[in-house]
Amino acid sequence: MKTLSMLFVLAISLFSNDGVHDFTPSSECKECHTQIYSEFYGSMHANATPSQDSIHKAVWDKHPANTKNSRYQCGKCHTPAANNLDKMLTKGEKAMPDAKNATHQEAISCAYCHRIEGIKKHPKSNTNIINKIPNSYYGTSKIGPDSPYHKIMTEGNEHMQNGNVCIGCHSHKMNKNKLNVCSTNIANEMDGANCVSCHMPEVKGSMSSISDTRTHSFHGFPGTHYNSDMLTKYVDISILKNINNFIVNIDNRSSHALLLHPLRVGILKISVNRAHETIKLEKEVFVRVIGKDGKPTMPWIADTIIKDTMIKANEKRAIKRDFKILKGDRVDVVLGWFLVNPKALKKLGLQKEKAATKFHIFKKQSFTF
Ligand code: HEC
Ligand code: HEC
Ligand code: HEC
Ligand code: HEC
Ligand code: HEC
Repeated sequence: MKTLSMLFVLAISLFSNDGVHDFTPSSECKECHTQIYSEFYGSMHANATPSQDSIHKAVWDKHPANTKNSRYQCGKCHTPAANNLDKMLTKGEKAMPDAKNATHQEAISCAYCHRIEGIKKHPKSNTNIINKIPNSYYGTSKIGPDSPYHKIMTEGNEHMQNGNVCIGCHSHKMNKNKLNVCSTNIANEMDGANCVSCHMPEVKGSMSSISDTRTHSFHGFPGTHYNSDMLTKYVDISILKNINNFIVNIDNRSSHALLLHPLRVGILKISVNRAHETIKLEKEVFVRVIGKDGKPTMPWIADTIIKDTMIKANEKRAIKRDFKILKGDRVDVVLGWFLVNPKALKKLGLQKEKAATKFHIFKKQSFTF
């Protein structure tokens, strides 16, 4: 049975993988890379499309290019496995996202990411260079040389481990007004940690059903939507008590700002528990708001950063509260975020969308004095 289905997979792949923009569907990796597939399937990389990501869709719906005769420019990073990506990226072409086209629903697929051989840098946004050898994947070179189903590149794999494979899409995105809408710290390294070591940690379970490796690199890509608990160790919270006040220190030990997308709002809630009573203190807000003429706008209109209180890469932020802590008090702090700034919900029509309105708790800590 197994041999038969493998032959079937082989036969399909012979036809389906002969061009730069022709990628084997992720579902075909599932049979052997079962655990990796199920992690990936639930991640934002598998769900980056307008039909799967309501927040992305809401912004795209407002975009001036979203007309019948236009093209889905976002495809470069959100649906790069689309079989008409060339058209999506060429001025004057018509190429809109199509819920019935399977390649448009692949989002950032297994084969797409594993065929990135290099990055071309550009001030507006970088571009991924895809290898042209059908069914050949870059990996970790931990094993090799081949699997029964595909080739594994034995050379030129370094970019998979050092995080360069991520910066084709994640480094930055500049709009027409030369404003960087989003920007991850491109230096991409800190004390030996990089995108991959932080966002793809080793977890239990074999990388394939054929061999029996004890661990594999987690493919659920922890971030602001999912699995953020895997990242809490990179942000430390501590408290310093003074005579008449106290300071909450947030130590962001990641190589980029705490939150990256301009839609996000980070919030630190602080309360003091005294004799079974809870005293709520002023919360602290972390945002990077972009806009024009001093007002927040959609990213394609913005030409300046109008407010930036976001905790930066490697920053230790001290937040002071003029409140005298007494012996026996317990200070509770909660660090979390809204994926969409509550002030933008209405404009985007996302008031009823749970993903957009929910407060995500990232880290909760209590300090007793
Ligand atoms: C018929 C089984 C099978 C299928 C289907 C399959 N693989 Fe594999 N793959 C393997 C085996 C076997 C290995 C070698 C590792 C091992 O022995 O577990 C491997 C290794 C890899 C590696 C290299 C790991 C490294 O560290 O170098 C990558 C990357 C990879 N596969 C990607 C994919 C992708 C992407 C797909 C779907 C397009 C896919 N595989 C489909 C069996 C399969
Ligand atoms: C250069 C690559 C690139 C292009 C082009 C691109 N994006 Fe994105 N987009 C990203 C990345 C990377 C993220 C994840 C950022 C993060 O989580 O901080 C993202 C996230 C988003 C989000 C947040 C989604 C969520 O679920 O929270 C929205 C909204 C979005 N993009 C809209 C768009 C729209 C609309 C377009 C096209 C007009 C577009 N993007 C084009 C790379 C890109
Ligand atoms: C082809 C473009 C592309 C590549 C390559 C890519 N990403 Fe992404 N990534 C995206 C887009 C687009 C999103 C946002 C999806 C959305 O929210 O709709 C995203 C989202 C994320 C998120 C947020 C997940 C969440 O739950 O909020 C993380 C973390 C992430 N990527 C890490 C990585 C890492 C690590 C790599 C390299 C191994 C990588 N990405 C490579 C395009 C890419
Ligand atoms: C030292 C660990 C560390 C490194 C290195 C690191 N990150 Fe992160 N990343 C974090 C933490 C911590 C968060 C914030 C908590 C969260 O989103 O769950 C985060 C959040 C993110 C998000 C979600 C931001 C948002 O607004 O939605 C993306 C996307 C992301 N990282 C991509 C990357 C990429 C790409 C690289 C490499 C250029 C990288 N990270 C390097 C730890 C790290
Ligand atoms: C956003 C890019 C990206 C996507 C999407 C992606 N991978 Fe990976 N994958 C990587 C990177 C980077 C590594 C190397 C991780 C490391 O060095 O720790 C890796 C490692 C692997 C390995 C080696 C196993 C290991 O534990 O080191 C296999 C096998 C693999 N991926 C298969 C898949 C399959 C199957 C899918 C889809 C279900 C997939 N990948 C989706 C980036 C990606």
